[in-house]
Amino acid sequence: MLETIDIIDAPKYVGQTVRIACWLTDKRSSGKIAFLQLRDGTAFFQGILLKKTSEEMFDLARHDLRQESSMYVTGEIAEDKRSHFGYEIHISNIEKIGDSEDYPITPKDHGIEFLMDHRHLWLRSTRPAALMRIRDRTKRATYEFFSQHGFTQFDAPLLTANAPEGTTDLFHTEYFDTDAYLSQSGQLYEEAGAMALKRVYSFGPTFRAEKSKTRRHLTEFWMIEPEMAFMHQDESLKIQEDYVAYLVKCLMEDCPRELKTVGRDPETLKPFTETPYPRISYDKAIQMLQDGGLDVKWGDDFGSPEETYLADQFKKPVFVLNYPKIIKPFYMLTDPEDDKKYVCADLLAPEGYGEIIGGSERETDYDTLLQAIKDAHLDPKTYQWYLDLRKYGTVPHSGFGMGFERFLCWICLQDHLRETIPFPRMINRLKP
Ligand code: 4AD
Ligand code: MG
Repeated sequence: MLETIDIIDAPKYVGQTVRIACWLTDKRSSGKIAFLQLRDGTAFFQGILLKKTSEEMFDLARHDLRQESSMYVTGEIAEDKRSHFGYEIHISNIEKIGDSEDYPITPKDHGIEFLMDHRHLWLRSTRPAALMRIRDRTKRATYEFFSQHGFTQFDAPLLTANAPEGTTDLFHTEYFDTDAYLSQSGQLYEEAGAMALKRVYSFGPTFRAEKSKTRRHLTEFWMIEPEMAFMHQDESLKIQEDYVAYLVKCLMEDCPRELKTVGRDPETLKPFTETPYPRISYDKAIQMLQDGGLDVKWGDDFGSPEETYLADQFKKPVFVLNYPKIIKPFYMLTDPEDDKKYVCADLLAPEGYGEIIGGSERETDYDTLLQAIKDAHLDPKTYQWYLDLRKYGTVPHSGFGMGFERFLCWICLQDHLRETIPFPRMINRLKP
């Protein structure tokens, strides 16, 4: 019985006859020779079939096999110095499995909406497949990093009664005879987890009914939310930059081919592996923006032009510290030096990608937090369990949330988040 191998392992089988389970992506042929482009989900390479090997098979290849036909291919692995991958297969037999008639995605240029409508098929193409591999590696690197730093993975519920990030973009659903919302953030639950396990993090989907069509917003996105007991904000910032630098380093080492495929030269990531990242205060940021001629005043939140301008001044990710209270959520710790501000920070990615992390030290005082909940027009009854964390052994604690797709979008130099997740959800897209 012949061994069936993955294309990615072809280098180990040079000179041997093996079987590949694959799909056809493209073909071309002359009277005597056919070149079949093959992919098996692990890599792409070329199969060469000579007419003299078998006329019957040669006819099958020319007439019956179409783009995305599936098959088993038997042949001998050889080096192929001219190709990107460096190896090819000299075909001796083909067993067709599935037909493929009129595959909608052809090598010609399709518009993005067409491709998104065919996302279930488009994922088979080179660039989407590379993005999914980078996503997978980043996910594993996340588990590695937090596990190496003494964190316990701690899942937050997705059906909740509370709204940590404000009530404007909640997805509402009926929950038997009461109301529920899809989770905007696991943070409040992570705070409970941190009081039990010291350092915890969640990594799961979160939901925001973002009504705008921007390239930075999905309605369903994944967030990494670490929360650390007995920790002040400065120590949290260090974890944030070490985490981002670790992810970048892993991708440079393990995904150079995929990075090149999506349009990122891995070498250009090097500066982002070097920490610490610069830190500026919100006040300084306002000053820099005004000096640069942007129309902002103290108290404004930053949009994409402001974030891009600021990060451009540093060519590295940059932390903006201590925003005004009016533009941030209720749970943050009041700045002891200025009660109009919170002890918080956003990490802005360079190269025009804007905020990838939002985080803060958390309010620890029961009465102050209760007042903040009331000021935010939230119902204290819903937050009683959260207030309990301040009633029974309150401690300084800090945490942050990184948008997984925001990070990937930056690293992969995508112009929109939608290609960094298998099936994106946006205001105008629930299918496929
Ligand atoms: O800044 P945000 O809203 O902060 C929180 O949710 C905190 N509870 C996090 C925490 O401290 N545990 O969201 C955090 C990050 C943002 O910096 C951004 O990267 C990403 O989540 N994000 C989105 N990503 C994609 N689509 C959206 N609609 C996003 N909204 C936020
Ligand atoms: Mg934010």
